[in-house]
Amino acid sequence: MSTDFQELQELILADARTVYSEAVIDHAMAPRNMGVMQSADAFAGVTGPCGDTMEIWLKVNNDAIVAATFMTDGCGSSIASGSMVTETVKGKSINEAQKTTQRDVLDALGGLPEESKHCALLAANTLKAAIRDYIATKREPWKRAYRKY
Ligand code: FES
Repeated sequence: MSTDFQELQELILADARTVYSEAVIDHAMAPRNMGVMQSADAFAGVTGPCGDTMEIWLKVNNDAIVAATFMTDGCGSSIASGSMVTETVKGKSINEAQKTTQRDVLDALGGLPEESKHCALLAANTLKAAIRDYIATKREPWKRAYRKY
């Protein structure tokens, strides 16, 4: 990597640090749990008012979330939010995870600028939709046969 490139990268990062927390930058640049999950127990895709979509897959064992992954076509803040929500939900019971709010995601990320707070809401809403899918499928397991994932 050339010195000029490194300097430019440092300048961009320094600029980003004036707006975003270290956690946001870290999760946006190195997202955890990104990707489609095979044989998931639950799935949801939600499109926010901004037009961006987030998808979340869950693996559940004894009503506890053992794995969560996400995909999004949204902004860096949505990548950070999806990464953080899938990290923090692991190990939680379905009941506990269902209570996840936009505030929880924002707190875990160390906040987001006002204009990006809806990205945390998209992540929390998608998680809740995936949990509703888990509960619905548990009640009516035959629906599994019609799943595309
Ligand atoms: Fe649409 Fe962030 S999710 S702007």
